[in-house]
Amino acid sequence: MIIAANLKTNLTRAKTISYLNKVERFIEKNSITQEVLVFPATSSLVKHQAGIKVGAQNAYPAINGAFTGEIGYEQLEEFEIKTILIGHSERRHVMGETQEELVKKFNFYKELGFRIVYCVGEPLSVRESGHDKMMEYISRQYEGIDVMYKNLIVAYEPVWAIGSGLTPTPEDIVTIHKELKTKSTAPLLYGGSVKVTNVQEVLSLDGVDGVLVGSAALYAEHFCSMCESAQLLEKKINNKKES
Ligand code: PGA
Repeated sequence: MIIAANLKTNLTRAKTISYLNKVERFIEKNSITQEVLVFPATSSLVKHQAGIKVGAQNAYPAINGAFTGEIGYEQLEEFEIKTILIGHSERRHVMGETQEELVKKFNFYKELGFRIVYCVGEPLSVRESGHDKMMEYISRQYEGIDVMYKNLIVAYEPVWAIGSGLTPTPEDIVTIHKELKTKSTAPLLYGGSVKVTNVQEVLSLDGVDGVLVGSAALYAEHFCSMCESAQLLEKKINNKKES
């Protein structure tokens, strides 16, 4: 399973380093074999060579150049970052990134072989317009994206579930993931108000290959506990298969 923490605009560099060290120690001590990704704020990017993969929340599709306020590949390369989040709802809806811009980013970092976590998801008004309209909306977020890209991970994150404490019903997540799996065979994460108390349930749903966690991952202890839940769940599944 893939367990990812999106730290957004939180934690200083010093706190991020301490966070990564705590999580890393936990993973080692508890022999966690899940894929663990952490996306720190841009100013807190660090070279981290152990088990956790550190990724960028955003970068401009350029090696370097005149793009005030942005970072490019050169700044990621300094920290050996090879993982990037593209299309997160806050980039789409707060920063106003268009599908066209996201496609440019996607293609640029794909050419460089990055592991790309590409996010899709609908705002509440779209969800309320009915299932078919909602799926059409989400489908448009796949336009121009190479769904066969071997280093792709997709994250389904309903915009209204992010940071709100609300989640779709388990049946909803299963239905939507099933439909999204027909668009791409890439691992599919669920994101939106995942926390210590619901992570096992979410991870055990059909078609859920992992989770992308924001607020509930801000404390290393909580994120560790979610990684442990994933590990225990996988063990349970494997034991069931063997018996
Ligand atoms: P949340 O955020 O866990 O705080 O809902 C998830 C995300 O934005 O990726």
